[in-house]
Amino acid sequence: MKSKVALITGITGQDGSYLAEFLINKGYIVHGIVRSSSSFNRERIDHLTSNKEIFHNTLFLHYGDLIDSSNLNRILEKAEPDEIYNLGAQSHVQVSFEIPEYSAEVNALGTIRLLDGIRNSSLRTKFYQASTSELFGNSSTSAQNEDTNFNPRSPYAVSKLYAYWIVKNYREAYNIFASNGILFNHESERRGETFVTRKVSINVSKIILGIINKFSLGNLDAKRDWGYAPDFVEGIWKILQSDTPDDFVLATNETHTVREFIEEAFIVMGEEIIWEGKGLDEKGILKKTGKEVIDIDKRYFRPTEVDFLLGDYSKAKQKLGWEPKTTFNELVRKMVTYDYNKLKISTNRNVHIFNKL
Ligand code: NAP
Ligand code: GDD
Repeated sequence: MKSKVALITGITGQDGSYLAEFLINKGYIVHGIVRSSSSFNRERIDHLTSNKEIFHNTLFLHYGDLIDSSNLNRILEKAEPDEIYNLGAQSHVQVSFEIPEYSAEVNALGTIRLLDGIRNSSLRTKFYQASTSELFGNSSTSAQNEDTNFNPRSPYAVSKLYAYWIVKNYREAYNIFASNGILFNHESERRGETFVTRKVSINVSKIILGIINKFSLGNLDAKRDWGYAPDFVEGIWKILQSDTPDDFVLATNETHTVREFIEEAFIVMGEEIIWEGKGLDEKGILKKTGKEVIDIDKRYFRPTEVDFLLGDYSKAKQKLGWEPKTTFNELVRKMVTYDYNKLKISTNRNVHIFNKL
C-alpha cells in the first residue's frame, strides 16, 4: 500500500519534531519546511536526520518560510501531501507585542498562503491549523470549549484568530478539509527555553547544581492548563483522521498557577520553596537554607495578560477517542529530571576539562 504523505510547517519546533517522529512511526513519508538560518536550527530533529535510513527514504526537508508564497506553492507541488500540518508560527506571546506585524505576517497570512495554495491546486489534501487557547483570552472563568467566546489579548492571539476563521471560511467556501485544533498549553523536554515551564525546569536544575544562585520571573499567578506535548501530537493526528473536518479543543481539564509549577519543580529536586513579600517585591526562598532563589522582574509582565485557562476536551474525547495521558506532576517531573541530568552531565564534563587544563 502506498504510504501517506504529510507536510509539516514548523517541523523544527517542539510539536513539529514530535509529530514528525509520530508520523514516521506510522509509516508516513514526511516533508518538513525549515527556515534558512545562519546557525544550526534542527536540533529537535537531529536524531531523525542523522539516521540515514530515515533521511534517505522517509523524511524530506525543504527550505521555506510562511512569508514566501511562491516557495510554499513549489513545496506543495513537489510534496503532493495527503495531510498538511500548519504548526509554523511566531509562537511566543510576549514577543508578539514586540513584533506584532511580523507575528501577523507569519501566523495569519502564512495560513492563508497555504490555504490559497491548496485552493489553486488540484491537491485533495487535509489541512490542520495550530489554533490556540490564547483565542479565549479572559473570556471565561469556567472551562473553555469549542463554543466559548473568543477575546484575544495579544497580537499573537489576534493573528491566530484570523487563521482560525480563515480555516473555517475555506472549509465552507471551497469544501477544503480544513480543521482547527484549539490546543491548550503543552510542554515537554523539547519546549522552547523562553516559555515559562522550560525556563523554570532549566533554572531550578541550575540552582540545585550550584550553577546559578537565582532567577527572575513575571506573573506567578497566571493559570494554565498544561499538558504533555507527545500526548497532544497524537490528538493533532486524530483530528485529521476524522471523517469530516471540524474544530476540537485538546486540553487536560486541570489548571495550575505558574507558582504551583515552580513549587512542584523544587519538590522534584527534594526542596521546598516558600514565598515572602508581595507584587514586585515577592521572593521565592528555599525553606531548608533560607536562600533567595527567585525574584520578580517587571520585564516579564505582559501589557495584557491571560489570567486563566482551563480546557474542556469532551468533544475530542467523544468524537476522536482522545484523552491526555500525562498528569501535571508527571509533566513537571519529566521536564525537571531531563534538564537536571543534561546539565549535570555537561557540568561534570566541563569540570573534567577544567581539571585537565
Ligand atoms: P515552537 O516550538 O515555537 O515552533 C515553532 C515552529 O515554527 C519552529 O519550527 C519555527 O522555526 C517555525 N517558524 C517560525 N517562524 C516561521 C516562518 N516565518 N516560516 C516557517 N516556519 C516558521 O512552537 P510549538 O510549541 O511547537 O507550537 C506549534 C504550533 O502550535 C505553533 O503554531 C503554536 O503557535 C501553536 N500552539 C502551541 C501551543 C503550545 O502550548 N506549545 C498551544 C497552542 C498552539 P525555527 O525553528 O526556525 O524558529
Ligand atoms: N515566558 C514567560 N517567562 N512567561 C512567564 C514568565 C517568564 O519569565 N513569568 C511568568 N510568566 C507567565 C506568563 O505571563 C503567562 O501567563 C504564563 O507564564 C505562560 O507563559 P508562556 O509559557 O510564555 O506561555 P503562554 O501561555 O503565553 O503561551 C503558550 O501557550 C499558548 C496556548 O495557550 C505558547 O506556547 C503559545 O504559542 C500557545 O498558543
